[in-house]
Amino acid sequence: MASLLDKAFDVNLFRKNAYKLVDELSNYLEKTITGKSELKVLPFNSPDEMFSFWEKDFDISTESNLNEFYTKIINSSIHLHDPKYIGHQVPPVLPAAALSDFLSSFMNNATGVYEMGSTGIALEKLVIKILAKSIGMNNSADGMLTSGGTMGNLTALLALRQAKSNYNIWKEGTKNKTAILVSEESHYSIDRAVRIMGWGDEGIIKVPINNNFKMDVNNLEDAFRRATKKGIEVIGVVANSCSTSLGLFDSLDEISDSCVKNNLWLHVDGAHGGPASFSEKYKHLVKGIEKADSVIIDFHKLLMHPSLVTAVLFKDGDKSYETFSQKASYLWEAKEEKDWYNLGKRTFECTKNTMSLKVYSIIRTYGIKIFDEIVTLLFDLGKNFAELIKERKNFELAVEPESNIVCFRYVDKTKKDEELNFLNRQIRKTIIEDGKFFIVQTDMKNKTYLRTSLMNPFTSIDDLIDLLNEIESIIKRF
Ligand SMILES: Cc1ncc(COP(=O)(O)O)c(C=O)c1O
Repeated sequence: MASLLDKAFDVNLFRKNAYKLVDELSNYLEKTITGKSELKVLPFNSPDEMFSFWEKDFDISTESNLNEFYTKIINSSIHLHDPKYIGHQVPPVLPAAALSDFLSSFMNNATGVYEMGSTGIALEKLVIKILAKSIGMNNSADGMLTSGGTMGNLTALLALRQAKSNYNIWKEGTKNKTAILVSEESHYSIDRAVRIMGWGDEGIIKVPINNNFKMDVNNLEDAFRRATKKGIEVIGVVANSCSTSLGLFDSLDEISDSCVKNNLWLHVDGAHGGPASFSEKYKHLVKGIEKADSVIIDFHKLLMHPSLVTAVLFKDGDKSYETFSQKASYLWEAKEEKDWYNLGKRTFECTKNTMSLKVYSIIRTYGIKIFDEIVTLLFDLGKNFAELIKERKNFELAVEPESNIVCFRYVDKTKKDEELNFLNRQIRKTIIEDGKFFIVQTDMKNKTYLRTSLMNPFTSIDDLIDLLNEIESIIKRF
């Protein structure tokens, strides 16, 4: 009788399962991107219902085959390729990137040390070089790929800490009160990174935003002066390109000038909006990004890659070696050597998957021009959606959008803000439960807004008109 391992390595069965899965996904894709799928965007189930569904599955799992299981997974998932998915900043993936990810999983080369992942490591250097050039950094730039924007921000802030502290903080631990200045609107991963570094409340100074919801440079300078007076050693600034809630871009040129004047490291959180630099039409939004000391850009947001792949770029490539200073003699003989090909010296991951493969496969197949096409199309869609919102008297924009993130709310002159907040939360809840659309919500200056990230290039103006009509009809139901 065949052992379980024999079964698991049955090559013919693998071939059959794989062909079937690719067939199923191709049919799924064809129907979903054209809006013809019978599946709800989000087949909504409560967490307990979902858990008991899978608990039951486990009881019968040995009797069913792999492809039945895959179908179950597809049917119970949220459908990001559906044009009516306009929720969080997670994209429908480019099919070729997903295919490359499958290959990367299968080969399972680990890119922490050269001998375990030489192909992926060389591709990673190439991807970083291409990316650095396209945001305007020169040949001394360098960096690496890591597992997500949260990790990318922490990696960059650790390098900032090492580069700007006037003692060896890695060796001696934090001795002074150290802080960074960040926009009030920065992503929570920045706050988390500061606390991981042990700087506590005083380590993160939130700079008030201006009336346009952006970091105000006068406020930045004020905050710097006040902190310095208090004896806090301010060593860096984090700017948004763009902010998470509203998708707005801080003025990098101005902020960079202030950083140079005050000898501060500038880190740009470009997890979402950094790719604007690929768009001929929208690259003005990130003007000055090349002057930042460090930048992160997520491929798994606007650039339509499967999660996770984040680029961490350093204007001075040598600084990418400052994040960690650790010995692992079984991995690297020369700990001090700046060997670009042993990526684990510079990244959190020890075993790191070949994330460069999917990125390079897209650049190689379509050219980086595809990123211009995606960003321009989605940012244009954001502007067009805003125009539709402005045409209706019962809707109000939170702010004129600069990207593909559009926040708005239902308004009614007879109601106070508190009632409107409740109403807009109810609208979002109903939309989610109905499953025809997927949108999210955000609070800004005590107002609740419906938040849409237009991540799907197949979302049309008609879909967006449908959404507004749907909200109006939901209101009538209350
Ligand atoms: C501006 C910004 N930075 C960082 C992150 C965190 O990225 P990740 O989800 O890849 O960890 C996000 C996520 O939405 C973000 O919007």
